[in-house]
Amino acid sequence: MVLQAIRYSRGQLEILDQLKLPHTEEYDHVYSSTDAWHAIKEMRTRGAPAIAMVAALSLAVELVNLKLSPIAEEVKVFIIEKLDYLVTSRPTAVNLADAARKLKTVTEEAAGRDGATGEAVREAYVKAAETMLIDDVSDNESIGGHGAEWIVNNTEAGKKGQVSMLTHCNTGSLATAGYGTALGVIRSLHGKGALKHAFCSETRPYNQGSRLTAFELVHDQIPATLITDSMAAALLRLKGSSENIAAIVVGADRVAANGDTANKIGTYSLAILAKHHGVKFLVAAPRTTIDLHTKSGEDIVIEERPGKEVTLVKGPRHDGVTLDLAVVETVSIAANGIGVWNPAFDVTPAELIDGIITEVGVVEKDDSGLFHLEEVFKKESSQ
Ligand code: MRU
Repeated sequence: MVLQAIRYSRGQLEILDQLKLPHTEEYDHVYSSTDAWHAIKEMRTRGAPAIAMVAALSLAVELVNLKLSPIAEEVKVFIIEKLDYLVTSRPTAVNLADAARKLKTVTEEAAGRDGATGEAVREAYVKAAETMLIDDVSDNESIGGHGAEWIVNNTEAGKKGQVSMLTHCNTGSLATAGYGTALGVIRSLHGKGALKHAFCSETRPYNQGSRLTAFELVHDQIPATLITDSMAAALLRLKGSSENIAAIVVGADRVAANGDTANKIGTYSLAILAKHHGVKFLVAAPRTTIDLHTKSGEDIVIEERPGKEVTLVKGPRHDGVTLDLAVVETVSIAANGIGVWNPAFDVTPAELIDGIITEVGVVEKDDSGLFHLEEVFKKESSQ
């Protein structure tokens, strides 16, 4: 069975509550944009593409189930207000803002047509949101294919036949509409028989690696091992063993025009470790994550989350032998009164990134170390 973070049919949306994973698989109904805003803010749904998709589809569901005005202009204003509201749920991942911008354009165009009705504007919005869902899955499959091919051709282990990979945070089916970005690359390597072993980091403080990525790897029966974030350097030092890491592949929340990449906190440390150990460092992301309006990482707003995500750990009761799913406990793991800094993301400078894997191929730097994303994607989108 394929893992699904988002279940959608016209007029109905359900999301897998990621706060309850990996122990309980429970879907929540999302009836409106307000429901989605809270689900995103509370991290019940997470990962840059999934956030964008849940936001876009929540409004589609609301529009289908509401008795709307017959006047096109009024429906347009309603949609635009809701999109502006949804964008405020989380600031760093650009996919949500990008989806909102595209959906606004579709809405404005539909409302501007001769004889436009409220119904026509609603239909245009709903269709566009549904198309985004379909495109996300096929884009991820392409990312997986391009990334796997690049790794096989550009690493020593790949040329010999099999690679071990390290990834961070969650970028799989649960963080997207399906298949995944960085985890999609690992899935694709596995599918080709080119994956020796996958390692995933725990991803403190929110543990997307141990709770979500590990869950997906076990679910798909991909040979995999979990490490804490602080074990990555030691892992990369294991030369010549079967665990020898050929490449690190991560996702992205926003790639600036110069290639600087915002992703889950801890990504930057991994990129420095990769450089030190001569290991390839790759970012896998759809074009919707590439933000040509943001010049460099300096301009990316990094979300800061509550300190309790660092000081408290939540999960079902475990007495050392048995797991009791009926009792969820919160345990404090820090000294009371300590100050906490909890940035949810960091920025990896482009100089540490060997390639950006997208659905249209892998973008590499030129001889002077520049990515030229603007040139590649402007040209690509005008074709
Ligand atoms: O805070 P989260 O869990 O939403 O952060 C997720 C990440 O940083 C992912 O690596 C990123 O969104 C890419 S998901 C394909």
